[in-house]
Amino acid sequence: MPGPIVVLGSANLDFVVRTPARPGPGETVFGSAFTTVPGGKGLNQAIAARRAGGAVCMCGAVGMDAWGEVLRDTLRADGVDVSTLATVPGDSGTAHITVQGSGENSIIVVPGANASVTTLSAPAAELIAGAAALVMQFELPQSVLLEAAAHARRHGVRTVLTPAPVLDPVPGLLDLIDIVVLNEHEVTRLSGLPDIEDATRALSGSRTVITTLGADGCLLAAHGEIVRRFAAPAVATVDSTGAGDTFVGVCVARLVAGDPLPRAIEWATVGAGISVTRAGATSSMPTWAEITAVGLT
Ligand code: RIB
Ligand code: NA
Repeated sequence: MPGPIVVLGSANLDFVVRTPARPGPGETVFGSAFTTVPGGKGLNQAIAARRAGGAVCMCGAVGMDAWGEVLRDTLRADGVDVSTLATVPGDSGTAHITVQGSGENSIIVVPGANASVTTLSAPAAELIAGAAALVMQFELPQSVLLEAAAHARRHGVRTVLTPAPVLDPVPGLLDLIDIVVLNEHEVTRLSGLPDIEDATRALSGSRTVITTLGADGCLLAAHGEIVRRFAAPAVATVDSTGAGDTFVGVCVARLVAGDPLPRAIEWATVGAGISVTRAGATSSMPTWAEITAVGLT
């Protein structure tokens, strides 16, 4: 029995406004709808991996506000182990999202409780040591990501990182990551190279890199070379929030289930394709039955 997928990451309550156009500075516009949806890149990836069939533990923190219970219950309802999810004084993480008619989103994240996760708890360290994979993003303090990645490496546990929102990584962190999954903004920012293929190649010297390109699919690179370009299915995009997280969750669940990486990416592409046809982050994530019903082309 392989250990669980451990997601060390953020949980946020998403406040989502649909609007035909974003306001400029000093401008007021009408939105057409408002919803709250459980999200956060960590929670999203945990739920996507779980729905795709993985056994998943979520490490992180929620606040002592009403949202904290909502976030914990959301994970529990999907069967994610929350025994290493702390509840800390203060607000939960929140994300303030506008979604335009095109389905494109802009997000402001206020870390709240996520900022309190600066070091690895003993139970979290124990889980990671026996994990099938450690999955992280950049919405927790990098001190804990570095500690966890080093711990995973010592125990031979595969590490996956989405460096979003994009920040300069602390020295040494990227060297401890086996698979980096990021979008075009993040890859160009991290590499300092404007061309997406060059940027993807440059980051892949000593690790696998997957650059997701929305409707254009994704690029897989390793050892400084582009290995393959994957096409995405043509779909009607309603809301792309959480599509990247769905991709990561499905990909890791399939890898842990034994699929080779290219096959796992194909399934992840199908999963992300389904998620963009529905509103919200967790609310749009498909089950494995839904993914296989679409199937690989
Ligand atoms: O990746 C999408 C997520 O980014 C949202 O759910 C929001 O919470 C932010 O973390
Ligand atoms: Na969506």
